[in-house]
Amino acid sequence: ATECMMNSGRDSTQRVEFGCSEESMVPEKFVWPDEFKPKEGLPELQVPHIDLQKFLSGNQSDIEETIRLVDEACKKHGFFLLVNHGVDMELVKKLHECMEEFFTFPFDVKQKAQRKFGENFGYANSFIGRFSNKLPWKETLSVPYVADHQKSTAHDFIFQIYGNELSHHGKVYQECGEVLSELGLKIVELLGLCLGVPKEKFRKIYEDNESIMRLNYYPPCEKPELTLGTGPHCDPTSITILHQDHVSGLQVYVDDEWHTIPPTTDSFVINIGDTFMALTNGVYKSCLHRAVVNCKESRKSMAFFLNPAADKVVRAPDEVVEKNPPRKFPDFTWPMLLELTQKFYRSDSNTLKAFI
Ligand code: SIN
Ligand code: FE2
Repeated sequence: ATECMMNSGRDSTQRVEFGCSEESMVPEKFVWPDEFKPKEGLPELQVPHIDLQKFLSGNQSDIEETIRLVDEACKKHGFFLLVNHGVDMELVKKLHECMEEFFTFPFDVKQKAQRKFGENFGYANSFIGRFSNKLPWKETLSVPYVADHQKSTAHDFIFQIYGNELSHHGKVYQECGEVLSELGLKIVELLGLCLGVPKEKFRKIYEDNESIMRLNYYPPCEKPELTLGTGPHCDPTSITILHQDHVSGLQVYVDDEWHTIPPTTDSFVINIGDTFMALTNGVYKSCLHRAVVNCKESRKSMAFFLNPAADKVVRAPDEVVEKNPPRKFPDFTWPMLLELTQKFYRSDSNTLKAFI
C-alpha cells in the first residue's frame, strides 16, 4: 500500500486501486480539508540563533544576552535555533545516511519494525496504526533512547528486530541518542537559568530521561498543495531537538499565521513541548507546528524528544509558580499526559488529527 504514496504518478493501476484519481494523483485520504492546505510565500519565523559554546564558556554579558534571547523566544512561541552546539556533524551525516538507506528498503523489510497501534516505537507509514482520517505524507521510524543504561536502548531495539543485519544503524542511533540526551540536559539547564530555577533542578528531572528519536521521511508529492507531511500539532514531549536536512518544510503557527523555519543544516531547531510548558507553569509556550512536502525531492528530519522517566512526577518548581501564580497544571507523569493527548487528538473530529 505504501507504494501508492511513494510512486504516485508512476503506476496508474495502483493509483486507482488505492483511491487515487487519474487527475489528482493524490489518494483522497491524503487530501486535507481546505483550511489545512498549505500556502506558498509564508513569512519566516524570527528565531534567535543561540550560540551554546558562547553561553557555556562565555563572559557574563554573553551569558546574560543568551538568557534574554532564549527567554523572549520561549515566552513568545517556544522556538529557537541552536548553533555551535558541539555535536559532531559527521555523526548527523551518518544518521541521515541510515535514514536514506532505511526508508528506501523494500516495504517488507521496513514492515519488520512495524509500530503497532498505541505504541511509541517502530516503523509507521500512513497506512499503519493511524487514527487520523486525513493521512500525512510521510513515513517514520521511532526508536527509544533510555539514558539509564540498564534499560533497553536504541541499539537493542534495532538488534531485536533486525539482528546484526542493521547493527550499523543501531550503533548510529545509539550514539545519536547519547549525544542528543546530553545536549538536552544542557538545554534544560539553560532554560532553568532563564526561569531563575537552580541549575541542577531541571537536570535532575531529565538525567534518567526516556526519550524518543523519530526519523521522518517525506517522499516527494506531485500535488504538495493538497496534503501535509505532518499535520498541525504541539509536541506533548518536553524539549524537541530537530535536525532538518537541506529541504524546507517546517512551519510554525504564530500570531494567527503560518511561518517557515528554513533549514540550516549545521544547527538544531529547539522547541518547547507541552510537558516542559507545564514545568514552567505555562510561562514558556508549546506552539502549533506542522511540516509540508514538495514535488521536487524527498525530505528527511530527525526529532529527538526529551522525556522524563515514565515514573517521574512532573510539577512546576515553586520558584516558577511563586513568580507566576497560581499553579496551573496538576502533577502528572509523562505517560499520563501522552494518553490524554492521544485521546484528545482522536476525539476531535475537525481539527488536530495528526498527532505528531
Ligand atoms: C519536521 O519534520 O520538520 C517536523 C516534524 C514534527 O514536528 O513532528
Ligand atoms: Fe512536532
